[in-house]
Amino acid sequence: MTQHAAMPMVVDTDVGTDDAVALVLALRDPGAEVVAVTAVAGNTTLPNVIQNALYTIELCGARVPVHAGSSRPLLRQLATAAEVHGGDGLGDIGLPLHGRSPAATPAVEALIQAAREHAGRLVLVTLAPLTNIALACLADPQFASNVGRCVVMGGTGRGPGNVTPVAEFNIWVDPEAAAIVFESGLPLTMVGWDACEADATFSEAELDELRATDTALARFCVDIQRVSRDRARAAGRREGICIPDPLAMAVALDPTLIAEARRLPVAIETRGSLTSGQTVVDHLGVTGATPNAEVVFRADRGRFMAMVQRALA
Ligand code: BDR
Ligand code: CA
Repeated sequence: MTQHAAMPMVVDTDVGTDDAVALVLALRDPGAEVVAVTAVAGNTTLPNVIQNALYTIELCGARVPVHAGSSRPLLRQLATAAEVHGGDGLGDIGLPLHGRSPAATPAVEALIQAAREHAGRLVLVTLAPLTNIALACLADPQFASNVGRCVVMGGTGRGPGNVTPVAEFNIWVDPEAAAIVFESGLPLTMVGWDACEADATFSEAELDELRATDTALARFCVDIQRVSRDRARAAGRREGICIPDPLAMAVALDPTLIAEARRLPVAIETRGSLTSGQTVVDHLGVTGATPNAEVVFRADRGRFMAMVQRALA
């Protein structure tokens, strides 16, 4: 039988309660080798992101370097999301998130090196504002063509945003970076907020069931969702909570999970006073632009949930 080498992967992340679950999926998958994690400010500050990534990796019993990246967007002030992720970024449940050390190499250098080393094969998964990725594209003209596949959690394919009526958080935080990335030639698969709401919303019962697995990883992945769950209950949202980043990771690990997608032109709005950070998806081909992303609309929810259950068991 032919032995296939594991898929080399870099995860760019702002860990983040849903990023942490996505990292667990990747680190527990024998088919993937996470060669580096690159940290960027987003859900929480860069120092928090670094500690959260290192803690999650340690909990998985893995050894993966975490590289420090940008502490703020290219041109704008940082906006975080403590109302979803807690002040520490992992739900403020009292985890010991301090004292661990990042690697010496900065994130942009690590991204460029990994893409060169695994040219044509590297799977880059971005779960955060695209600041680090834009800087890598600018620093190395070969970066985009060295990456084999780039799965982006961000934007929205055909639905509303989650921070403004039209913008999703990861794109809205740093639209200038997103514009560079979407124009870079990277082989993009975009898993937007609409796809995640449709297929990565976990009901209270599903979260309780996962928690009942009672492994250290299951307890961690469910307990860190505390702030988000409390917020949903307080708002009377009975459908549960959307945990988006693991869906993008699942699609990276197993592209056959994609149930509906189209290659389409996607542009990023950087200037609109009402629409900054919107992913403008040309569904009808009216711009004449060449498609630059595979836009995912739906995934196989049953197989995704099974993948999460397996990873936490
Ligand atoms: C995205 O923004 C962050 O809050 C999440 O971690 C996810 O990457 C969802 O809009
Ligand atoms: Ca994230």
